[in-house]
Amino acid sequence: MKKLVIQGGKPLTGEININGAKNSTVALIPAAILADSKVVLEGVPDIQDVYSLLEILNEFHVETHFENNILEIDPTHMQSIPMPTGKIQSLRASYYFMGATLSKFGEGVIGLPGGCFLGPRPIDQHIKAFRSLGATIEDEYGVITLTTPDGLKGSRIYMDVVSVGATINTILASVRAEGKTIIENAAREPEIIDVVTLLNKMGAKIRGAGTSVIRIEGVDQLHGVTHTIIPDRIEAGTYISAAVAMGQEVKINNVIFEHIESFIAKLDEMGAKMEIGEDSILVHQSDNLKMVSLKTQPYPGFATDLQQPITPLLMKANGKGTITDTIYPQRVKHIPELNRMGANIKVDGDIIRIEGPAQLTGAPVRASDLRAGACLVIAGLMAEGETVITGVENILRGYSNIVEKLRAVGAEIEMVEDDESEE
Ligand code: EPU
Repeated sequence: MKKLVIQGGKPLTGEININGAKNSTVALIPAAILADSKVVLEGVPDIQDVYSLLEILNEFHVETHFENNILEIDPTHMQSIPMPTGKIQSLRASYYFMGATLSKFGEGVIGLPGGCFLGPRPIDQHIKAFRSLGATIEDEYGVITLTTPDGLKGSRIYMDVVSVGATINTILASVRAEGKTIIENAAREPEIIDVVTLLNKMGAKIRGAGTSVIRIEGVDQLHGVTHTIIPDRIEAGTYISAAVAMGQEVKINNVIFEHIESFIAKLDEMGAKMEIGEDSILVHQSDNLKMVSLKTQPYPGFATDLQQPITPLLMKANGKGTITDTIYPQRVKHIPELNRMGANIKVDGDIIRIEGPAQLTGAPVRASDLRAGACLVIAGLMAEGETVITGVENILRGYSNIVEKLRAVGAEIEMVEDDESEE
């Protein structure tokens, strides 16, 4: 087990390059198995979730090669193998193998996904969509068995909640179904457009990605292609937060501004000083930040995944603010840790109430989930003294080379082996 040790208070200067998007990658990999020949993904982040997916692919007899952020996936000899337990349960995105194996083999046995605990994370909309396409689903002690007695047939599906996962899974399941599928109230996240771009290059016929109505015309066959993954908007937002907190001049490269417009608008409201470039954002030293309130929403609203990373910044502002996470109201595990570092934050039902300013001081804290970890890293950079973060494996699931990237801009952060951890 590892821990991160941060000596806070160091000013940050320099450049940080953003990787391909984690939440695209974890959907693109299962999408790639639908091809009948090799798919090459470029810009794949070097993160634990990718390695978990590679292990799952290898269990399915899919050949893979991952080097220098380029991932080759050759599903030519893929077999329909039940995956009730094991690696499949280690990450949330393994649920994409439900849609993908349904599409490829007309069947699948997939253990229910793990991933970050953010409160209840049901998959009822995924199941509803698969059933609507003609699949039979059985759930026995958390193992989902999918079969298609009469094949998959296109259908009209209205999503009761706007869900990234259910939208992508429905696309995966319907891409080779007979006839037309229409998804209404679809999620509009950039990652969905990325998955559809890959599938259309592979020969699929999907229109409307990025809007709330997606139309899919089933095709018989999909072929191998090369695809470059979009930049990770959440990784970008995380480093922008760190830069606003501690930067003298930090340039964040490989950013699509439109993907983080709502986040940047909030930082503007706080008085952060930024210059928006063509594919980069330059953050200047930002003093006298103003307190704000925010509410997370499905895209293009303020992303739930950036709610935790922006919270430490509010410690620099004067006054009272609130954060309301409408997607995951229980995504609050970072709050007691921030309070341990000197913050003054209360969780009041579904509302996080913040009172600033507060000078953070280093403390031992635990990253209970990925974005809580990002929040604590930023808090550690801001704090006086030493912060020791455990639960680092949660951070490494989604941030590649985080220590190297932060050290390159002047942070004093290192990863050390943690002999005493009981995990
Ligand atoms: N929901 C349902 N039923 C469903 C599916 C979702 O009620 O069948 C609810 C959820 O409980 C939640 C809301 O709908 O309240 C939205 O959930 P969504 O399905 O969009 O989330 P997800 O697909 O499971 C992805 C990301 C998350 C990110 C959310 C929201 C991946 C692998 N994960 O999860 O990313 O927070 O969308 O944008 O793409 C992260 O990167 O740290 C992370 C947790």
